[in-house]
Amino acid sequence: MAQLKKKKKNNAMNRFSTPATQSATQASPEKEDNEGGQSMTQEMENIETAIEASQKVVVSREKEIGEEAEKPTGPVGLDIGTSHIVMSQNKGKTIHTVKQLNAFFTVPYSKFTKKILIENDITFLEKHNQFYILGYSAENFANMFNTNTRRTMEKGLLSSKEDEGINVLQAIIDTLITRPDKTNEVLCFSLPGEPIDGLNSVIYHESILKMYLNSLGYRAISINEGLATIMAELSNDNFTGIGISMGGGMCNICLSYLSVPVVSFSLQKGGDYIDSMVGASVGEPATKIKTIKEGSLNLTRPPKDRVETALDIYYVDLVSNLLNTLEKIMKTSDKIPKIAKPIPIVLSGGTVLPTGFKELFEKTLKKVDLPLEISDIRLAEDPLNTTAKGAMVMALSEEI
Ligand SMILES: Nc1ncnc2c1ncn2[C@@H]1O[C@H](COP(=O)(O)OP(=O)(O)OP(=O)(O)O)[C@@H](O)[C@H]1O
Ligand SMILES: [Mg+2]
Repeated sequence: MAQLKKKKKNNAMNRFSTPATQSATQASPEKEDNEGGQSMTQEMENIETAIEASQKVVVSREKEIGEEAEKPTGPVGLDIGTSHIVMSQNKGKTIHTVKQLNAFFTVPYSKFTKKILIENDITFLEKHNQFYILGYSAENFANMFNTNTRRTMEKGLLSSKEDEGINVLQAIIDTLITRPDKTNEVLCFSLPGEPIDGLNSVIYHESILKMYLNSLGYRAISINEGLATIMAELSNDNFTGIGISMGGGMCNICLSYLSVPVVSFSLQKGGDYIDSMVGASVGEPATKIKTIKEGSLNLTRPPKDRVETALDIYYVDLVSNLLNTLEKIMKTSDKIPKIAKPIPIVLSGGTVLPTGFKELFEKTLKKVDLPLEISDIRLAEDPLNTTAKGAMVMALSEEI
């Protein structure tokens, strides 16, 4: 048994220095030349640590209002999602994640308001005669004013609608992490695949985030969000399979062979799309639909009212769209490896949480004809923290 495990580890190890970590491999060529075998040994040790981390349990919590940002003392994973930003660190026998809402709310400037905000430990950014209230605090304000929070990101990428979106996103990241203890500490952050259904590209989004994280003193490396799902969940399958992260703004899909992303793309539709389409269909605000969806949606039982009917319809629509696109992309790709064994599909992200989602996915999968055989469909252990865990696993493997 131990032997088998070791063999598996070695398999995965060999593949880690392939394009999956290209940027890091390119970033340190001198190290190998100068230190020769020693740096190779170090790299292998890091990869062992990363594989061990992928088998650890995640302990998660939400950032508390007024709580200070952490100073990381080791590699960091960062899931920068449309709805949430999740930071992860490897601590002893578990991986710890801390989550912040990726949202803000503005109130006009006044000295009085400033005093009240400070006294109540509310995190804010002061700009252009306004206070930008950040993260979970923003949600409380929006509820009090009976309106919605605003977002720094839309459909998985920096929002083009918000002038201060970048500064606010940076300030929200600052509520989770400070500059690291060690200069050039590795930080892996999640990056969507190129959107298949829009004119957007991830290049601008990636560059802005990388520049900012590097300026904080990190060595920032992006990891595809679908691949992060695989790094977090498929260590026992040699990191081979299809990882699908279905979040608020988008769905990210990655086919990985031995940890190497072979095909990856994103659909700019996710939970927000379901909320707004259902809302428009039944004449209710999207926020109300979101509350119903998160609170009580059960896709296994017949819908009991108009909202549930519409939720069912748009869940079916999203999953069909995703699988039809996956079929088309895989069938037209010349990169699909010949894999002897059927491969698993693993699902993560908040949109996979309703009861019956896995069954809906299995049913829809039967209607498409993928050019690779699928062994089984799995839900990630902790769907809201999977991307952050996968980013953490990658960060550990990249440590110098
Ligand atoms: N119990 C639940 N049932 C259904 N949907 C849920 C549930 N909990 C959260 N969600 C939905 O999950 C989405 C948020 O998921 P997640 O935090 O994974 O997204 P994200 O990573 O921030 O976004 P993205 O990856 O798309 O940029 C929201 O649309 C939210 O409504
Ligand atoms: Mg996500």
